[in-house]
Amino acid sequence: MEHHNFKWFKWFLFSAFFRLALSYQDGFLSLTCGGTTNYVDSSNIPWTPDTNYVSTGNITTVTFPEGTSSTQLPVRFFPDSSKRKCYRLPIQNTSSLVLIRTKFVYKNYDGLKTQPIFSISIGTATVTTINLTSFDPWIEEFVWPANKEVLPLCFHSIVGVPVISSLELRPLPEGAYGGAFGDSVGMLLRKSYRINCGYSDGSLRYPLDEYDRIWDADEDFSPYHVSSSFDIQSNFNISNIKENPPTPVLQTARVLARQNNLIYKLPLNNNNRGDYYIVLYFAGILPVSPTFDVLINGEVVQSNYTVSRWEADMLYFNVKRIDQLNITLKTIKYYPLVNALEVYEILDIPLESSSTTVSALQVIQDSTGLDLGWQDDPCSPIPWEHIDCEGNLVTSLKLFDVNLRTISPTFGDLLDLKTLDLHNTSLAGEIQNLGGLLHLEKLNLSFNKITSFGSDLEDLINIQVLDLQNNSLQGTVPESLGELNDLHLLNLENNKLQGPLPQTLNRENLQIRASGNQCLSFTLTCTELSRNPSLQVPQVTIFTPKKHKNSHIAILLGALGATVITLFVITFSILLYTKRNKSKNTYKPRSEMDMSAWNSAKIFTYKEIKTTTNNFKEPIGRGSFGCVYVGKLRDGKLVAVKVRFDKTQMGADSFINEVSLLSQIRHQNLVTMEGFCCESKQQILVYEYLSGGSLADNLYGAKSKKLTLSWVRRLKIAVDAAKGLDYLHNGNDLRIIHRDVKSSNILLDKDMNAKVCDFGLSKQVTQPDASHVTTIVKGTAGYLDPEYYISQQLTEKSDVYSFGVVLLELICGREPLTHSGSPDSFNLVLWAKPYLQANAFEIVDDNIKGTFDAESMRRASLIACRSVERDALRRPTISQVLAELKEAYSIQLAYLASSDLVN
Ligand SMILES: *[C@@H]1O[C@H](CO)[C@@H](O)[C@H](O)[C@H]1NC(C)=O
Ligand SMILES: *[C@@H]1O[C@H](CO)[C@@H](O)[C@H](O)[C@H]1NC(C)=O
Ligand SMILES: *[C@@H]1O[C@H](CO)[C@@H](O)[C@H](O)[C@H]1NC(C)=O
Ligand SMILES: *[C@@H]1O[C@H](CO)[C@@H](O)[C@H](O)[C@H]1NC(C)=O
Ligand SMILES: *[C@@H]1O[C@H](CO)[C@@H](O)[C@H](O)[C@H]1NC(C)=O
Ligand SMILES: *[C@@H]1O[C@H](CO)[C@@H](O)[C@H](O)[C@H]1NC(C)=O
Ligand SMILES: *[C@@H]1O[C@H](CO)[C@@H](O)[C@H](O)[C@H]1NC(C)=O
Ligand SMILES: *[C@@H]1O[C@H](CO)[C@@H](O)[C@H](O)[C@H]1NC(C)=O
Repeated sequence: MEHHNFKWFKWFLFSAFFRLALSYQDGFLSLTCGGTTNYVDSSNIPWTPDTNYVSTGNITTVTFPEGTSSTQLPVRFFPDSSKRKCYRLPIQNTSSLVLIRTKFVYKNYDGLKTQPIFSISIGTATVTTINLTSFDPWIEEFVWPANKEVLPLCFHSIVGVPVISSLELRPLPEGAYGGAFGDSVGMLLRKSYRINCGYSDGSLRYPLDEYDRIWDADEDFSPYHVSSSFDIQSNFNISNIKENPPTPVLQTARVLARQNNLIYKLPLNNNNRGDYYIVLYFAGILPVSPTFDVLINGEVVQSNYTVSRWEADMLYFNVKRIDQLNITLKTIKYYPLVNALEVYEILDIPLESSSTTVSALQVIQDSTGLDLGWQDDPCSPIPWEHIDCEGNLVTSLKLFDVNLRTISPTFGDLLDLKTLDLHNTSLAGEIQNLGGLLHLEKLNLSFNKITSFGSDLEDLINIQVLDLQNNSLQGTVPESLGELNDLHLLNLENNKLQGPLPQTLNRENLQIRASGNQCLSFTLTCTELSRNPSLQVPQVTIFTPKKHKNSHIAILLGALGATVITLFVITFSILLYTKRNKSKNTYKPRSEMDMSAWNSAKIFTYKEIKTTTNNFKEPIGRGSFGCVYVGKLRDGKLVAVKVRFDKTQMGADSFINEVSLLSQIRHQNLVTMEGFCCESKQQILVYEYLSGGSLADNLYGAKSKKLTLSWVRRLKIAVDAAKGLDYLHNGNDLRIIHRDVKSSNILLDKDMNAKVCDFGLSKQVTQPDASHVTTIVKGTAGYLDPEYYISQQLTEKSDVYSFGVVLLELICGREPLTHSGSPDSFNLVLWAKPYLQANAFEIVDDNIKGTFDAESMRRASLIACRSVERDALRRPTISQVLAELKEAYSIQLAYLASSDLVN
């Protein structure tokens, strides 16, 4: 009987093979690590060498399996300890699950007989440790919720040299393993078991499993098994099982006769307790419908479960913190059975660092001119060299003995820094661009050539240690340092400072080191000193008022007498007084003053805003500084309400900036501001509502929301946006530089008219004939003018550059930066320019291919290319861009009209 079934089963395998071989799965990637040739394996799966996906490591071959029928198996090993050892694997479909299978073989390929131990990471997650002493070869499988286009898979050696033999990527069915993931993408699964219950003839995989999961025989676990000859495909409805287990797997089952319990004991070789996801598959292949309880580690997880004849179903369980696993099916009626089971360890995926942080660090790496090996995420799986993290926040950066020359604006983007050490980095000039680092506690700028304190230090409200020793600081120590209440060590040794130290620094908990300056102390003025040459070199080296107050100061006091003291008390109070007045005079009055001048816009109360937005019910987007809600004014007019969450000074400045700019301008291609609310720390802007969404949404958004943009529509949008920018640059005495031109800041109304929005970063050039304004670099990666980035000199041409990038997006239908495809294509500008300059239009968006007039496209693409010239002087003005776009637009219109006539 059994024998007969088995024969039949083999026939079944055969037929299934041919059926599935015809529907070969897309998306398989099979790499022979260290291989040099392509080949197709016995399952008809093509294998390729790994060279396109890894840039480090050496290759060799191992003899495997050992013995007579052995073959030479290629492997890649990573001997160079200084380099990152990573594969970069392309994910074709970022909305599906991917199975990643890795195989490691040592087999003494190097003759050293030292099996390596190393950990591997996928993305930000360290997933497991490979110990080739325990098993050789070693196979691991992971199920990863693909949400990125490139997946870094890296090795971190513990003992010896990491080595890998093969890598496979397999897309998995949609919605599979949903019980583990739910909506979360913050976890991945590591396979512990995938068992084809009741099967004893080795493993099944592709083509029987179209997803190429490997289902192992279960003979090791329990003695009884049955199989069925029913054609599950036609008799069973398994559409309710998203995991889509292959029918041959469901065709066999483990059954236990009579009143016994069916037990699977599954060792978890894990030193620590872990969380596990368990899936059990059942198919009613018996002539009866058995009923049983399911127990995991002795606990009932499902009671009175019935497998009905002709029906297939699955059960899944999440079990927390276990280090052993036994699954028991406890008989209630007939014989308990199970057809397949899978056990996965659930692993967390650490959050990535913010993209601002990552790009800032990359710019910093570039500016050192060194390859610091900074790639992928700075914090996880292991922090980059020179960096420390707390969670996904970069909290410490220590760069030294490199050549930075200035503190570039990018340092100001590392908002989570608590420690910044830039000693011996050739810094010169003033301390700058650090004012936004509100969490900074320790700043070491020693051994540089800094000449001026600048004005940023006073903003570092959490600073505790400030080391400026061995610089070229000149002049006096700024009074404002005294406002840094947490400061407890200030090292000013070996500079060229002089004059009295501000009394505000004279406090118990603050240690000041001041030796090696021209003359620097609390109690002397330089005139006093020059009159008394014996005091020329200050004796105060380490000045800890608490300890030395009585001895040291008393001596000096005695020597100098009371007059000086009185003088100081007076100066001090005057300084304090002016300081207070000054701070009163800076920020607040400016905003109040300006507010009264914003007469063209309505001022809303917070209550009105709440009514208007129906208590912030319907969010429609998320901008650079906050959430946007749809609202309805009393007269029925729809509005977009932007609630800003950046409540810092920088945020407040950009809010005031935007309100004051917007209230001055009105143009059909610029979004109109209806009003604002600036009450109890709320920063809310009310704009006209544009129902067509942003250009970016329409180019890249979800299908349901976007319109198809034909070439003529794209040109119209470009013309509109260029008109808006032209008005900003050249309109009535304006000279406003937008600074954040990008496709998500171009909105469409219901009639597809385009308007430019988001003026939070815009800058008005107040002197009409200034050639540029110097400013901290702000903007969006991918759109940022490289020349502005380097020089920090902002001109209208920077907007032209960003707009050129938008034009390229319209032409090519892709985002400015991607990480898919070959590295040459990551950057839209670098990728597209050579093609377009050569009128090679094969890179034009597929959606508009065949519908455009070549001359129209030629004009548009040439002006786009000229706009993104690296040299700003060679870029056209926005007026010139506008003129060319209008031409391209009318050519395309004429073309459409004539082709209408032809049809
Ligand atoms: C690895 O390759 C590099 C150059 O390709 C070579 O210099 C080095 O000796 C190799 N290391 C080993 C252990 O084979
Ligand atoms: C590696 O495996 C061997 C053999 O199982 C074991 O003795 C050794 O302790 C393991 N090493 C590590 C670091 O886990
Ligand atoms: C990507 O995967 C999703 C979910 O599995 C599927 O619906 C979609 O068709 C796939 N897209 C492509 C291009 O394969
Ligand atoms: C299979 O079952 C699902 C519900 O579980 C049902 O929607 C579907 O129509 C069934 N298909 C067939 C072919 O019976
Ligand atoms: C199964 O696990 C439970 C809980 O760990 C334990 O009490 C029980 O003895 C185990 N059963 C067997 C047969 O190992
Ligand atoms: C078990 O389920 C069957 C049918 O589903 C039901 O008739 C029976 O009462 C249940 N028994 C218990 C103990 O819940
Ligand atoms: C400073 O860095 C340079 C390399 O840029 C190095 O040669 C020099 O020794 C360093 N000086 C100190 C004091 O560390
Ligand atoms: C700053 O760096 C210098 C040079 O390495 C070091 O001597 C000094 O101790 C550091 N300062 C602090 C406060 O750690």
